[in-house]
Amino acid sequence: MCGIVGFTGSRQAAPILLEGLKKLEYRGYDSAGVAVLDNGSISLAKTRGMIKNLCEMTHDGNDIKGCVGIGHTRWATHGVPNDINAHPHLSCDGRFAVVHNGIIENYAQLRDELIAHGIEFKSDTDTEVVAHLLEYYGDEDAKTAVMKTASRLVGSYVLGILCTDGSGRLFAVRESGPLILGIGVGENYFASDVTALIAHTKNVIYLDDGEFAELTPEKITVYDCTGTAITKPVSRVVWDVEAAEKGGYEHFMLKEIMEQPRALKATLEPRVKNGDIVLENFELSDEELKDIDKIVITACGSASYAGQVGRYVIEKLCRIPTQVEVASELRYREPIVDHHTLLIAVSQSGETADTIAAIKECKARGARTMAIVNVVGSTIANLVDHVLYTWAGPEVAVATTKGYTTQVAMLDLLAIYLARRLGRIDDERYAQLLTGLQEMPSKIQRAIDLNGHVQYLAERYYSNQAIYFIGRNLDYAVCMEGALKLKEISYIFAEAYAAGELKHGTIALIDQGSPVVALACYEPLFDKMVSNIEEIKARGAKVLAVALEGDKRIISQADDFILIPKSDPLLTPIAEIIPLQLFAYYVAKANGCDIDKPKNLAKSVTVE
Ligand code: G6P
Repeated sequence: MCGIVGFTGSRQAAPILLEGLKKLEYRGYDSAGVAVLDNGSISLAKTRGMIKNLCEMTHDGNDIKGCVGIGHTRWATHGVPNDINAHPHLSCDGRFAVVHNGIIENYAQLRDELIAHGIEFKSDTDTEVVAHLLEYYGDEDAKTAVMKTASRLVGSYVLGILCTDGSGRLFAVRESGPLILGIGVGENYFASDVTALIAHTKNVIYLDDGEFAELTPEKITVYDCTGTAITKPVSRVVWDVEAAEKGGYEHFMLKEIMEQPRALKATLEPRVKNGDIVLENFELSDEELKDIDKIVITACGSASYAGQVGRYVIEKLCRIPTQVEVASELRYREPIVDHHTLLIAVSQSGETADTIAAIKECKARGARTMAIVNVVGSTIANLVDHVLYTWAGPEVAVATTKGYTTQVAMLDLLAIYLARRLGRIDDERYAQLLTGLQEMPSKIQRAIDLNGHVQYLAERYYSNQAIYFIGRNLDYAVCMEGALKLKEISYIFAEAYAAGELKHGTIALIDQGSPVVALACYEPLFDKMVSNIEEIKARGAKVLAVALEGDKRIISQADDFILIPKSDPLLTPIAEIIPLQLFAYYVAKANGCDIDKPKNLAKSVTVE
């Protein structure tokens, strides 16, 4: 999704803006640009393609002089990716430059209106209306022009605005999208996310929807939508620069896979005190808890597959009916929820547009809302009644790894906590599960230690056109994420099937040599899974089994196998996904794919 940066200070702006944009590359983009104010006029450089093209064009920004500017990476929504549609966009009089993340839904109507006033449009973007509206209202002071312009817009719009009046003045507007202000010494910044800011400052202000800010080198003033100055808390970012960079690994994805033991520890440790689970901000009374008769988990992509694992564990331990609905479906389904429903939204970024909309829809119908989120101060974190953070640190690779495992661990912890408070598990089982969960960081490490073996196997399977994943119960939930990992980064067709459904159709796909990844880690259904493997072997399938250490039957049955450490069956998915992440990684690598930035995908999907 689009990324935005802004800088005002006494240093040259363009190199700083370009560096910031590079940090936002992971969001996915197709063009990039910067606008810088120099001696009262705006210089513009923008181009289709990678930021490195923009760096070449401008000699790393050194050709563009000036100490205040804005930058943008574009993910096309209105108008094809080309140089003209790239942001920033200028008003006709050259007084305003604009960058935008989101979609202006009433842009066609505004465009007609502006054309009727004699304005000539240069691009096909929805964003250009903003630049012209600013000019239209620009006879008043810039702050009023910004407010009047924002009041005309419908949809989602995070804006960065550079204006020629008043030295070094920038505006940042937020409506339905992420925007963070960075406070420096004699200089100030804004950006779509903290990774673009932490090289300069760790002191940030999170803007909320409907607010806008005026930035000068010395001062940041935040206003509400009526233009009244408001006081906002300053937060301190706990991530460091190194945490947001590759740290010697070839890809962010591999680095993030390796970080999982630490991420899991950081998520679990602060919440287990003296053998008990302590959940911050979870203030439901026993009565309110008992009143919950349904749990709905909503999310997109991998986060929804984390939810699938959560559903099995919550139902098993809490005996509360639990459903998982992808947010893009839930939001338009007139969901049947009320104050007896607990909605759990799961999101790494906290900015996924569909998830936000689904929460709003359920909230409006009275559901109690909770979110499991990785980014502090994100939109979803602010939207729900209770937020539980996964302390995974910044995740840069588009394909999530540590984001997913920490979400699963958080759902497990929540399930154990709820089951205990509802009296559905006894002290012994509670202690057993809690100890089991605390052991997962070291179990994950042992699964990571299979790296070399998984790489060897990936090199045996990488040239297949399609790979099937089968499993039952929790193994099936893990299959979904394993298959998604493979397809999103290696572009190999991969699909997850419930093993018990094989003979109802899917088995027709199996031929001599068809590769099947069979997950056989869920002990209660192990024998059933062995039968399913026999069925597909009889039809010629080549089986790569993932099973538990010491499992002799699988070794004799499968063509290839990966054995992971044994844990409580309900907690095994946390370790079981690790070899599948590594498998996807090495298959993609063997196929020469762009692992951290797979084609057509974005890290944070902030538009519908
Ligand atoms: C995108 C990413 C996925 C992610 C999904 C949900 O599709 O590529 O990796 O699972 O969005 O994102 P969220 O930030 O809400 O977890």
